[in-house]
Amino acid sequence: MRALLDKIGSRSARVGIIGQGYVGLPLALVFLEAGFPVIGFDVDPAKVAAINRGESFIKHIGAERVRAAVASGRYRATTDFDALPDCDAVIICVPTPLGPHREPDNSYIHSTAREIGRRLRKGQLVVLESTTYPGTTDEEVLPILEQGGLRCPQDFFLAFSPEREDPGRKNYTTKSIPKVVGGVNPASTEAAAALYGAALDRIVPVSHSRAAESSKLLENVFRSVNIALVNELKMIFERMGIDVWEVIRAAETKPFGFMAFHPGPGLGGHCIPLDPFYLSWKAAEHGAWARFIELAGEINTRMPRYVVDRVMWGLNDDGKALKGSRVLVLGLSYKANIDDDRESPSYEIIELLREASATVDFCDPHFPQARKGRKQDVRLASVACTPETFARYDVVVLSTPHDEFRDASLYRGCRLVVDTRNVVAPLFPEGDGPRIVKA
Ligand SMILES: NC(=O)c1ccc[n+]([C@@H]2O[C@H](COP(=O)([O-])OP(=O)(O)OC[C@H]3O[C@@H](n4cnc5c(N)ncnc54)[C@H](O)[C@@H]3O)[C@@H](O)[C@H]2O)c1
Repeated sequence: MRALLDKIGSRSARVGIIGQGYVGLPLALVFLEAGFPVIGFDVDPAKVAAINRGESFIKHIGAERVRAAVASGRYRATTDFDALPDCDAVIICVPTPLGPHREPDNSYIHSTAREIGRRLRKGQLVVLESTTYPGTTDEEVLPILEQGGLRCPQDFFLAFSPEREDPGRKNYTTKSIPKVVGGVNPASTEAAAALYGAALDRIVPVSHSRAAESSKLLENVFRSVNIALVNELKMIFERMGIDVWEVIRAAETKPFGFMAFHPGPGLGGHCIPLDPFYLSWKAAEHGAWARFIELAGEINTRMPRYVVDRVMWGLNDDGKALKGSRVLVLGLSYKANIDDDRESPSYEIIELLREASATVDFCDPHFPQARKGRKQDVRLASVACTPETFARYDVVVLSTPHDEFRDASLYRGCRLVVDTRNVVAPLFPEGDGPRIVKA
């Protein structure tokens, strides 16, 4: 422990980060910028080559930052796991998706743990950051790492520290977001807290890795449940002729005891649509039902269908059927102003519209081409973001509130806009714009 803490103190500890994606890449840059030598590991050779050329594949992480990191000579990416023993700390940031039946898929964590375990040496600190259910670190990762004969904490340290990355957020960064850290034993908590404390602004140690794993799930379940609540209220208020956006604006003037969540076309991103099901799956093992999680999941996953229903009714009022209509979907990203389309509800909306025999295009300045997703492959290229293009469609469906879509002139020639984010109506306070259906 002393040797590791000394190396951390002098910034000579080499930090290995496995998985150079949305979480691993910014984390690598933060450790590098704090003075540590860093190796980024990834199984994707194209990503590794791009990083080593100084390119960023994530828009909100500027290429200059990656270029400067590579040029410093203290950061490189590799697919070669034999470099793991050169690292004093190894941080795991690999994906934790869901399987086809919404069951947790921890295979990436397990295979990474095996890669580390085969090469584990005395004095190393291993930290898992991938979101997962409580018990993964001590019940699953620890036995894999100990297979070679080394013991924790006598020979190495193991902790969990949840990632709280929020792509595109400006007021908090990887460095300034407080970091929860929990070891599988107190010595591991101390080692992990020392490492993160040398690079990040505030560390929050907890009693055990399970508490750290659970805190991340609480954060995401909290969001999922509250988004589901406001989505359900949106549908109820709509029947009553009440505008949910006006109701939220009024409610959020209460200076305490209320936090505004906003309705939308459904959940997106790597976390909120997936992580809560990690907890409900594990709860079942303990004979417990996570009813809030299941109910929120049910409401949120239904939202794209609700949007398509609203499109159908909007066209109906124009005397048109969805079948054969030309529909333009605005935005593929799951939230505004980022180039992250993972689990985006826009894809399901496109698919449902096509199932109803509509002709569908999309427009997204962040995506010249739609990407193949976990479930969908829509094979479309973005149309131009111009009033002339928009005017060619029977209905325009606003799915992602990108800043580029907050321009009244874009909608002047539109007949019908279905707005899932309350972006278009405020552009026409005099009511002189296209017919707008809120969804
Ligand atoms: N993206 C976010 O905003 C966010 C926020 C909080 C938590 N998380 C969690 O962080 C974890 C990582 O998410 P992400 O968004 O960075 O995913 P990502 O898909 O952007 O990146 C994962 C990277 O790991 C690589 N990889 C896959 N298997 C590997 C292996 N066996 N060895 C080495 N590299 C491997 C992939 O090639 C990819 O580059 C997930 O558990 C996620 O739930 C993500």
